[in-house]
Amino acid sequence: MDVLVIGGTGTISRAIVQALLRRGHAVTLFNRGLRADQPPSEVRLLQGDRRDRPTFEAALQTQRFDVAIDMISFTAEDAASALRALRGRVGHFVHCSTVMTYGPPFTALYQDETAPLNGQHDGGYGAGKVAADALLLSAYRDEDFPATIVKPSFTYGPGGTLLRQADLSSNWIDRLRKGQPLLSVGDGLNYFQFLPAPDAGAAFADLAGNPASLGQTYNLVHPEPLTWDAWLQAVAAALGVQAEIVHAPQDLLLAISDERYGHLPGNFGHTQVFSGARLASLLPDWRPRTPQREAIAATIAWMDQAGQIAASAADPLEDRIIQAIRALPDQSRLIS
Ligand SMILES: NC(=O)c1ccc[n+]([C@@H]2O[C@H](COP(=O)([O-])OP(=O)(O)OC[C@H]3O[C@@H](n4cnc5c(N)ncnc54)[C@H](OP(=O)(O)O)[C@@H]3O)[C@@H](O)[C@H]2O)c1
Repeated sequence: MDVLVIGGTGTISRAIVQALLRRGHAVTLFNRGLRADQPPSEVRLLQGDRRDRPTFEAALQTQRFDVAIDMISFTAEDAASALRALRGRVGHFVHCSTVMTYGPPFTALYQDETAPLNGQHDGGYGAGKVAADALLLSAYRDEDFPATIVKPSFTYGPGGTLLRQADLSSNWIDRLRKGQPLLSVGDGLNYFQFLPAPDAGAAFADLAGNPASLGQTYNLVHPEPLTWDAWLQAVAAALGVQAEIVHAPQDLLLAISDERYGHLPGNFGHTQVFSGARLASLLPDWRPRTPQREAIAATIAWMDQAGQIAASAADPLEDRIIQAIRALPDQSRLIS
């Protein structure tokens, strides 16, 4: 098949490209060409900025694809632009959405695709995806536009970063390397799903061109959730160390620095576990095959080479908080 990937050099999309090439598809990328990592040489490149909508649409209106996978659409306007660009020119259009469309608040564990779309508390990210998904699904219903919505949970790999719950800096990798303790939020037992990018890439490639997926929405998640503390230890193990974890109540962290910890209520401050059963029934052979340790090591290797691991010395706040917690009379009573 001829497959267009809008994006194609990012964390998930480079893994999609690799999986498509492995399956023998011809791949075209549309991106700005800003990434230092070059895509594979057999890929055709269309260079441009999709936010320059007239140029983006004109560039695609001269093309035809069996499948287009849109990895950088965040609003109804982005989706409408893709629709104008590709209407009548694509056999299958896959829109990369997110599980953040569901919340917070989250209504249940193992939420499936029928869960309420509460994603309005994360600075507009979830709400923008909800609007984009809705526009594409209505185009499917009204005019047979061949759209499928895929909602990944956190996905990591080369080209991206390793997140932790407490804050968004990458300096926790440096802290682990230097034997410095790590803050963990609450009791560290909130569950989350961590999907290696090669497995996400394989799922997108397996889904591409599948007629049963038209008009459907699929969560794309790792079926085995981990607690955040287990994730910290998994990353530590990939570095060959043990994490020394210090727990701090979420409300305390918010009171200390809204700038640093203000993202917690809108996203990582909650257990969030989604069901991948629907995708598993469409793609019975797909399951995550990359060991977390291998995927973590590959991500860290890329982050090192790209200079993406921040130095912990430049950031004394975490040490100050840990010192204050350790000075409390009885830390064991501290739970969130
Ligand atoms: N990673 C996760 O945990 C996660 C979870 C759920 C959903 N998602 C979704 O996954 C998608 C991100 O995929 P990814 O990981 O491949 O992306 P990424 O790592 O953010 O990379 C973005 C890709 O898009 C290109 N790009 C960015 N802005 C562009 C523009 N204005 N015009 C043209 N090309 C542009 C980039 O290349 P240039 O910079 O060279 O243009 C690059 O190829 C998003 O839709 C996100 O919502 C991610």
